[in-house]
Amino acid sequence: MSSNLSRLIQLCGVEQSFSLNNEKTTLFTDASFTIEQGNSYAITGPSGAGKSSLLMLMAGLESPTSGTLQFFEQNKAYEMNKMRHLTGFVFQQFHLLPELTALHNVALPLKLRGEKLADEKALAWLENVGLAHRKNHKPAQLSGGEQQRVAIARALVFEPAFIFADEPTGNLDSNNADDIADVLFRCCEDQGAGLVVVTHSEALAARAQYRVVLSRGQCQFDTKRSGL
Ligand SMILES: Nc1ncnc2c1ncn2[C@@H]1O[C@H](COP(=O)(O)OP(=O)(O)OP(=O)(O)O)[C@@H](O)[C@H]1O
Ligand SMILES: [Mg+2]
Repeated sequence: MSSNLSRLIQLCGVEQSFSLNNEKTTLFTDASFTIEQGNSYAITGPSGAGKSSLLMLMAGLESPTSGTLQFFEQNKAYEMNKMRHLTGFVFQQFHLLPELTALHNVALPLKLRGEKLADEKALAWLENVGLAHRKNHKPAQLSGGEQQRVAIARALVFEPAFIFADEPTGNLDSNNADDIADVLFRCCEDQGAGLVVVTHSEALAARAQYRVVLSRGQCQFDTKRSGL
């Protein structure tokens, strides 16, 4: 993967609101910033602030109430759906396929791309997240933290240009959390992936270069690089 393709996701005046029983709830307004391939970002804020909702928008999995999101490749603007095949997403609730083993869950994105060595590559990724010994277990036969690591391996196995991870260490002890954070940030630093993590962990957020803070309906993009 090459980061000199300069792929970007640009948010302009993005608002997300939900209407329930004729009552409108606005999560945030005027989210305006750019996500660049090769950089890392942490989204933080209290529970219910809209972090998962913002992540879904940034990955093009949902549409905003108002404002625009665009995907840029080599300075050309595209609709968000153009980047779907370049995107690895770790859902807060994992969303593993219950009938498939850990190995086959991780191999699936590769098989959908016609990759011949899908099972071998999937096994290597299970090893990366410390789960090769659980390869034949189905999700219900795995702990929460093990399911989370399978979901992370599945999101990373095809070397996506952008990685979106919702609370990727939320179910892990601190040693496993550190190891998984290393895996995620290595994708960013070594392979030039854009990495966006939602997290309540200050330790994980501090490793990201940039921070997006959601609070009381405001979306604030910290232009200062953290850790420098
Ligand atoms: N499809 C929907 N319809 C109505 N309300 C929704 C919908 N999706 C999310 N919400 C509401 O939006 C608010 C923000 O949800 P979201 O999941 O984005 O929060 P969050 O910041 O990720 O919280 P947490 O840290 O607990 O995961 C919640 O109050 C939720 O009920
Ligand atoms: Mg959430």
